[in-house]
Amino acid sequence: MTARFHFGTNLKMHTAAPETRAFVTALAAQTVDAGVRRFVIPPYTSLQGLAAIGAPAGIEIGAQNAHFAASGAYTGEISVGMLAALDVDLIMIGHAERRALPTETDDVIARKVAAVLGGTPDLLLCVGERMAERRALEFTDVLRRQLISALGSVRPEQLSRVQVAYEPVWSIGESGVAAEPEDITPAIATIRSVLAELFGKAARAVPLLYGGSVNRDNCADYAVLGGIDGLFVGRAAWSADGFGAVLARGHEAWKLRGGDTVEAGGSDADRAGM
Ligand code: PGA
Repeated sequence: MTARFHFGTNLKMHTAAPETRAFVTALAAQTVDAGVRRFVIPPYTSLQGLAAIGAPAGIEIGAQNAHFAASGAYTGEISVGMLAALDVDLIMIGHAERRALPTETDDVIARKVAAVLGGTPDLLLCVGERMAERRALEFTDVLRRQLISALGSVRPEQLSRVQVAYEPVWSIGESGVAAEPEDITPAIATIRSVLAELFGKAARAVPLLYGGSVNRDNCADYAVLGGIDGLFVGRAAWSADGFGAVLARGHEAWKLRGGDTVEAGGSDADRAGM
């Protein structure tokens, strides 16, 4: 199986339902290679409207979070089943802006992961270290802890529904600093190695996306990194033009690296020493 290039955007708390619908409609008009998988993760309030019109072919729709319980006395929360009823394709768990909340602990994230995989949508698990953890050279431990805690109970038959986004917390959003590719290479190696420990050879097929201040000028530098299968973009992909441009440049760079000619997840050479 040759790998696909995964490309998605997190719209955070930025678009009301009509804006999301216009955005997704504009993306649907763009031409992309068959080897590209696109997804959009809008606020909850956009999901019902997208379900009503039916998301355009070739664009998956995700939710930004879900509760771990199927139902109950959890005012303001949304369950995996409710999202599945809106035809959501994937659910993101553990985004840095949620991990920043005191209630979003590793344990809660693990329960949410179990809830997602107990349902029908796919999982997008976000992991990443904070700046203090990087400065203290603790990022390896942090990533290992986040991955083992969240994915330690994933069963082999669920693995094809799992994808991981590595987003260093210090690189995300307005106050973030775009990472130097050489600074994130060891983190990517750590993630690949923990996934291999957990799932053996099957881990190679788990897509690993990079995110955090990715834009049209730097996307190629990240897409060429061994072990990376796609990009997860915020601000630079919130316009249809931006989305299309970052996708096209990132995909081109990834293909030049040979990302599309090898087994999903990158080549064995990419994995050497990981
Ligand atoms: P950014 O956001 O690209 O605007 O830094 C990335 C994210 O939060 O997923």
